[in-house]
Amino acid sequence: MKVLVTGTEGYIGARLAPLLMARGHEVVGLDAGFYRDGWLYSDIHQLGMVPRTIIKDLRHISIGDLEGFDAVVHLAELSNDPLGENRPEITYQINHRGSVDLADKAKRAGVRRFVYASSCSVYGLGNGEFLDETGAVNPQTAYAKCKVMVERDVKPLADARFCVTFLRNATAYGASPRMRFDIVLNDLSALAWTTKRIAMTSDGSPWRPIVHIEDISTAVRCALEAPADAVNGEIFNVGANSENYRVREIAQIVSEVFPGCELSTGKGGADNRSYRVCFDKISSKLPGFRCEWTARKGAEELRHRFAQIEFDQSTYEYRAFTRLKQIRYLTRSGQIDNDFFWR
Ligand SMILES: NC(=O)c1ccc[n+]([C@@H]2O[C@H](COP(=O)([O-])OP(=O)(O)OC[C@H]3O[C@@H](n4cnc5c(N)ncnc54)[C@H](O)[C@@H]3O)[C@@H](O)[C@H]2O)c1
Repeated sequence: MKVLVTGTEGYIGARLAPLLMARGHEVVGLDAGFYRDGWLYSDIHQLGMVPRTIIKDLRHISIGDLEGFDAVVHLAELSNDPLGENRPEITYQINHRGSVDLADKAKRAGVRRFVYASSCSVYGLGNGEFLDETGAVNPQTAYAKCKVMVERDVKPLADARFCVTFLRNATAYGASPRMRFDIVLNDLSALAWTTKRIAMTSDGSPWRPIVHIEDISTAVRCALEAPADAVNGEIFNVGANSENYRVREIAQIVSEVFPGCELSTGKGGADNRSYRVCFDKISSKLPGFRCEWTARKGAEELRHRFAQIEFDQSTYEYRAFTRLKQIRYLTRSGQIDNDFFWR
């Protein structure tokens, strides 16, 4: 297939695009390039080929840009809660309007498949029960509310000519050249490596399902390649039941993988988002999909990578590896304007 992948210059996209290309798909990327200042490592074995990438804001995409593609995989958004809360009105502009317009234009351009990177954060506040795709959502932030609205507004576009699939990814982890240290397992691993100490201020009780970016990439590939009737209009939680952890359990695993790391937990709980997610549907209904990674294996991957690249504190703290820091820097330094367009 000829596939346009938005967000190829981001954390997931940087590993997804080579995987699709290795599979024989022709991939073109599209990205505004907000995090281009950050490149953690180069590994020819993992990265293989890099797609030709159109550097363009999603909000400026035209029907002409989309003509000739068989499929669009849409990742390019402001990608976490703190970033979404920073400027909620821009979050709605990019994540909600931008994504719905993209799907609409893709359909009008004759694209036949659309795969959307949604998020398990739509579940927001759970009560400890396993939540599945049929249950009510309870988004707590602008970021999560946008994910719900995109699902709501794009689903009606699904028909025999336009196959739409929503992948509600768990919180991602794993090594990527466009690294993010603002997601839980990556952050704790970097802390363990650089300081040998994980001192949590909260009690770490919230539930958080996590999934490796390679497993997310496999889910995207499977959604692209599945017979349309298996995936059209469908939502799939992406992850595995066994990969639901309390945050303190993730910290415990990381402290065991990084030798000599001390772990302590605090009392409070600042973050009220907690959700435990059921992944039965993806393992039984998405042909070819299976999660290959566990939190422990992911922490080990990061430990090997950190050793190989002589990872240090200043790299950990570098702005381009934390999405909110980088966007604030680009704004402060006048490189992007108030609406997050490059000047
Ligand atoms: N990483 C996770 O834990 C996770 C979990 C669930 C869902 N997701 C979703 O997966 C997608 C990718 O996540 P990620 O972790 O790779 O994020 P990321 O921030 O690393 O990558 C997003 C990419 O999109 C680009 N982008 C942002 N706004 C754009 C715009 N207006 N026009 C063009 N490009 C733009 C950025 O430059 C960046 O390269 C996002 O939609 C995110 O919400 C991620």
